Amino acid sequence: DLVKACYLLSGAAGVLLRVKMNVRRHLREKNTIPKIFAESVHRYGDKTALIFEGTGESWTFRQLDEYSNKVANLLLERGFKEGDVVALFMENRCQYVGLWLGMAKIGIEAALINFNLRLEALVHCVTISNAKAVFFGSELTDAVSEVHSSMGKAVQMFCSGEWDPKQVPQGTECLEALLADAPSHLPSQPQRCFTDRLFYIYTSGTTGMPKAAIVVHSRYYRMAALVYYGFRMTSDDVLYDCLPLYHSAGNIVGVGQCLIHGMTVVIRKKFSASRFWDDCIKYNCTIVQYIGEICRYLLNQPVQKKEQQHRIRMALGNGLRQSIWEEFMNRFSIPQIAEFYGATECNCSLGNFDNKVGACGFNSQILPFIYPIRLVRVDEETMELIRGPDGVCIPCKPGEPGQLVGRIIQNDPLRRFDGYVNQSATDKKIAHSVFKKGDSAYLSGDVLIMDKYGHMYFKDRTGDTYRWKGENVSTTEVEGTLSKLLHMKDVVVYGVEVPGAEGKAGMAAIADPSHSTDLEKFVKDMEKALPPYARPVFLRILPEVNKTGTFKFQKTELRRDGFDPSTVSDRLYFLDSSRGRYVQLDEELYRSMLSGKHKL
Ligand SMILES: *[C@@H]1O[C@H](CO)[C@@H](O)[C@H](O)[C@H]1NC(C)=O
Ligand SMILES: *[C@@H]1O[C@H](CO)[C@@H](O)[C@H](O)[C@H]1NC(C)=O
Ligand SMILES: *[C@@H]1O[C@H](CO)[C@@H](O)[C@H](O)[C@H]1NC(C)=O
Ligand SMILES: *[C@@H]1O[C@H](CO)[C@@H](O)[C@H](O)[C@H]1NC(C)=O
Ligand SMILES: *[C@@H]1O[C@H](CO)[C@@H](O)[C@H](O)[C@H]1NC(C)=O
Repeated sequence: DLVKACYLLSGAAGVLLRVKMNVRRHLREKNTIPKIFAESVHRYGDKTALIFEGTGESWTFRQLDEYSNKVANLLLERGFKEGDVVALFMENRCQYVGLWLGMAKIGIEAALINFNLRLEALVHCVTISNAKAVFFGSELTDAVSEVHSSMGKAVQMFCSGEWDPKQVPQGTECLEALLADAPSHLPSQPQRCFTDRLFYIYTSGTTGMPKAAIVVHSRYYRMAALVYYGFRMTSDDVLYDCLPLYHSAGNIVGVGQCLIHGMTVVIRKKFSASRFWDDCIKYNCTIVQYIGEICRYLLNQPVQKKEQQHRIRMALGNGLRQSIWEEFMNRFSIPQIAEFYGATECNCSLGNFDNKVGACGFNSQILPFIYPIRLVRVDEETMELIRGPDGVCIPCKPGEPGQLVGRIIQNDPLRRFDGYVNQSATDKKIAHSVFKKGDSAYLSGDVLIMDKYGHMYFKDRTGDTYRWKGENVSTTEVEGTLSKLLHMKDVVVYGVEVPGAEGKAGMAAIADPSHSTDLEKFVKDMEKALPPYARPVFLRILPEVNKTGTFKFQKTELRRDGFDPSTVSDRLYFLDSSRGRYVQLDEELYRSMLSGKHKL
């Protein structure tokens, strides 16, 4: 056992040491992601950097460099300056990368907005970023038009993609035409450091509306480099990235391999289970990125020859369930699962560097101070930290579930916590006296279990967020939206487990004593206001919902009751998404759902 533990330790420690030394060098040399990218351009010039599957378009490192120079020159010419924020609201494509990279070249920070957002949530994200301009894709013109009037007159609008001056909000300019005329030389760059802000990524966190998490250059580098060295990738690999570029997985872990390490990255507009292997074969991909859901969708496809004819040697991602882990590797002949754990804003990244089935990471048990993260005891329902008599948190023993926490050492670039734009949101993620009296630590909000070697396994996320179709759904946010659609009725949203489905399906309990809700209209309104993954799968119409003395909804009983019509006497509905309507959930439908005959 000791030999095995030492072997695992030396592997993980080697990776950390390497990344740490690189980070130190970049800090010393005042490097930034654009400067590191310039080295890649120098080295890989005419090699393909990005391929966009949607159009077959492919950009070399030099083309990506020139496009981003044009973006920088255009913004300078328009008077934008270092520290300004520009919101980016568009679907995946090569331009997406060129736009934020161009902004970064002159110290302008992009706010990467989830392209599924509409109405209130969209306005919220643009507003809290203080963006001076919005760059949006023409495919999202309708969504932008709906909220344009609430965005403030001072916000300049630029549309990328198919240009139709009659469709876009008044005052919008055609981005592609402006870029075509912009000079393609590198403008003079402001002095930025490795610890300066690069862009913002929104997380739905645990409560409330999306929060803007700050991504500094060193964090971008570290996230991409940890998986590159940890999973022994090379610049000859070709990475298939069908994850949204407004997330860290798609834009940092994926695209980062292109910008920093010279890898060719294939971008897809959106994941498609039926096209997945065709794409991998067509572009000679060697690494695919996943989120847990993707693996399950692929397994649900009929068996076909091509699923074995690719050159994929590794699947990289997070959230692959233990229950389908081996089936996924075997059926698709994928030798290695590179599962990692790490929130955008978290200071406790982990990686399963040795292909251990089911693990999302490893932390040494022999020399735990090498990487100061730890599982500590919590009340799993409330997520409250349990402390010993000395007021310090209690570390978990192997096999004992606990919340993952990471020590914050602000002057160590690998240990600092950059937090959110909203200071009070940042404060909520930090606890004190966690490792020892008086220290500070980042609270991940996730519950993991560790075995005796130090392999970590994801157990559950608690609190107010649940995961459905690979997205975090903030119940508070959905409650707010639904309640508004229902004339401010009390609406409680929570996740329920459905056998055979990954994550938790959303369920909304609606207080409606007179059963006056028009469900057809409700669905139509909801489709406009919420992205598909946030729409509740189940409804429970009840006379009233229980609240605490401080008017907080009590969810525990609702969650426990679930959606079983034989135990819940209230009326239950199920969202039949193929027909776009709620149907009453009776015992027959319930049974066929449980047996897996009726798939969600
Ligand atoms: C994939 O590899 C084959 C054989 O090595 C080569 O002929 C083909 O051009 C490659 N395709 C792409 C898109 O690079
Ligand atoms: C969901 O939350 C986790 C943990 O906070 C984070 O790593 C991940 O990026 C989030 N995903 C989305 C889709 O927001
Ligand atoms: C702690 O948080 C900061 C966030 O900026 C991160 O840079 C650092 O790496 C984190 N610590 C660990 C152990 O990853
Ligand atoms: C900042 O965060 C706090 C606590 O999470 C929240 O109550 C407040 O509304 C947030 N402010 C903004 C502008 O989002
Ligand atoms: C509300 O609270 C009452 C009293 O504690 C309990 O009997 C009832 O089951 C609760 N209702 C729901 C829907 O949780």
